[in-house]
Amino acid sequence: MFSKKMHQAMNDQIQHELYSAYIYLSMSAYFESENYPGFAQWMRIQFEEEMAHAFRFYDYIHSRGERVTLLPIGQPPAEYESPLAAFEAALEHEQKITGDIHRLYALATEENDYPSLSFLQWFIDEQVEEEEHVGGVVDNVKRVSGVSHAMLMLDRELGQRQPPAEVEEE
Ligand code: FEO
Repeated sequence: MFSKKMHQAMNDQIQHELYSAYIYLSMSAYFESENYPGFAQWMRIQFEEEMAHAFRFYDYIHSRGERVTLLPIGQPPAEYESPLAAFEAALEHEQKITGDIHRLYALATEENDYPSLSFLQWFIDEQVEEEEHVGGVVDNVKRVSGVSHAMLMLDRELGQRQPPAEVEEE
């Protein structure tokens, strides 16, 4: 059974995923303004991924016979002290989202909501990848911060990021 509590919690998660998208788009704008087009491109793809995450919840709620009610989305930060600070904020944000997903999973377990457990498994795995991915970028930016030619090379490298297949299809 898809409980009212689960419906509400997943509806809230759409807001969290859309806010994630908003944060990354804001970081992309920050990097554009700082002349890091590769970092900006990386964040723009991150934005697209978050939109795809929001749509997964959106479609799932409807597939369980309930409706989505969109909630307000707050204004994300616009400025960061440095590229490293922006990527560190991204990692911290992903850790927070992992906590959200784990709470949803715990609720589905408590309620014996097997379809939701199956649905959420994808997000459990995705969050492991997200944290590994963003954490790797934080490590790389830390290594090269202050070395301008190395930052330029890293910017070029991150600019090669391609959208995942599911985002390309949309
Ligand atoms: Fe949708 Fe990056 O978590």
